[in-house]
Amino acid sequence: MSIINNLQKDLIEIIKKAGYEVDTLAFTPSNRRDLGEYQLNDAMQLTKKYHENPRIIAEKIVSELEKDKRFININIAGPGFINISLSEDYINEIANSMNSNLFTNIDKKDKKKIIIDFGGANVAKTLHVGHLRSANLGEALKRLSRLLGYEVIGDAHLGDYGRPLGLVIREIQERYPNLAYFDQNRGHYDDIELPITNKDLEEIYPIASNKSKEDESYLEEARIITTKFQNHEPGYYDLWQKIISISKEDIKKTYEDLYVTYDIWNGESDEMEYFDELYDLLVKKNLLVESEGAQVIEVAEENETSPMPPLMIIKSNGSKSYDATDLVTIYEREINHHADEMWYVVDGRQGLHFEQVFRAARKSNIIPDKVYLEHVGFGTMNGKDGKPFKTRDGGVLPLKELIKIVTDETKKRLSTDTIEEDKIDQIAHEVAIGAIKYADFLSYRETDYIFEVEKFSDLEGKTGPYLLYSTIRMKSLLNKAKDLKQDKVTKLKGLTEKNIVLLLLELPHILEKAITSKSMNDIADYIYNLTANYNKFYAENKVLTEEDEELRESWLVLTNVVYQVNIMLLDIMGIKVPEKM
Ligand code: ARG
Repeated sequence: MSIINNLQKDLIEIIKKAGYEVDTLAFTPSNRRDLGEYQLNDAMQLTKKYHENPRIIAEKIVSELEKDKRFININIAGPGFINISLSEDYINEIANSMNSNLFTNIDKKDKKKIIIDFGGANVAKTLHVGHLRSANLGEALKRLSRLLGYEVIGDAHLGDYGRPLGLVIREIQERYPNLAYFDQNRGHYDDIELPITNKDLEEIYPIASNKSKEDESYLEEARIITTKFQNHEPGYYDLWQKIISISKEDIKKTYEDLYVTYDIWNGESDEMEYFDELYDLLVKKNLLVESEGAQVIEVAEENETSPMPPLMIIKSNGSKSYDATDLVTIYEREINHHADEMWYVVDGRQGLHFEQVFRAARKSNIIPDKVYLEHVGFGTMNGKDGKPFKTRDGGVLPLKELIKIVTDETKKRLSTDTIEEDKIDQIAHEVAIGAIKYADFLSYRETDYIFEVEKFSDLEGKTGPYLLYSTIRMKSLLNKAKDLKQDKVTKLKGLTEKNIVLLLLELPHILEKAITSKSMNDIADYIYNLTANYNKFYAENKVLTEEDEELRESWLVLTNVVYQVNIMLLDIMGIKVPEKM
């Protein structure tokens, strides 16, 4: 158990010794530091239960607290609030314990298996800024969950099954009508050279999509093609597979640039291999209903106030819907993974879709009741005008372009005096990803936010580059001191140092908040606070030249703990720390 949670457990015991039982401890860091570092407010709550004056209860608790050497400056304020501070020895002990092993102040979770569905890139379509938040948050939740002891499977769940692919193939047919894939008499299609690169694919989709809006027959043909590859029709199926493999390679490269990795690279189409099985089951359970030529599952409940349309399984034109891909995915995941939980890190605007899918999954019993399903929705990343990020000509901003814009901006601010010419691009990239991700994590996930390139690339302020720069400076201080003794904290002198240790003590609570809210904003705030406090300390003292050896050693150990915590939290956020900046 973490130091802080042990402390809280002991406080419950202390209150018990004073003669009172509490269910939940009211122990929080104080915002009146002049009165005490922590506030213990239980006496106020115990009054109701024990019908005693809160001041009397507080006095009894205080006399027990006074027997414990960890606490100092214990005093009662107002009607019965208890102020407490932590003793110097205890503060040193906390730092030393975390220095020997950070996990002495982290709470591990009970084992649980979680599948996180995130990223959701679409094959043959450009990855755009909308996909960024899913990748950032999904990756961070995966890392945090693993750190806390969960078993996690990250699944890319590529969009490769729907009409966009039909449109792309329709346009390829327009450009290369004699392509061997379209020769139905050929019989075999694995030896064909496709004269198309990923760049071509990215250009083809928007053109095809525009054409389909103006030309009804073009759209109809794309629909027919979609049904063809969905039904494994030779030629079309092979071309579709080929497109997937070209596009997948590029998608993998972009995720690598973001330090995002997956355990499973399934696409919707891999999941749809289970469709027939699921379909039979739905028929057997009498869950499919005919509706205007389509086959759907009713998911509305009695007395429902907001509209709850049925889940579409097969559309009236015979093609299988996006809804179907998600239902079948749950079915497949249960068969192959038996996870305890499935989290979907997907744009908040898909909330209704997931509500329908989850209800259908429950109704059809394709997963046990105890399996927990959650749509972890998020808001949009907007440009300065408050509207979704756009290119100069008004198009959706490709993710690669955003990365380039931010990389150019961070590069301007890197010093060529300290960084070698051949390293600058790599470092600028690492800092840029830090800038992007940190900005993304600052607000609660469901909030829309404005990404300001100059502001978030800056080395000053609440930014990724500031955190990276500060963390690298800690490391460089530790390197310079590597021949000096750095075993133990024995004394600390100022308030700033004490505040740093008190912040370190709170670490498990921050991680708990993050995993509960499935949002990184508390971690983003915390690492900034910790770093800013450390930088204040760094400015107040000259660590390396300090003559009092005990003090110098204590400072170095404290630096090491803050450094380790920063590295850990940056890693959770999927931010890489460059070697230099
Ligand atoms: N490919 C989808 C899109 O771009 C997102 C997929 C989200 N995940 C899921 N299981 N539906 O909108």
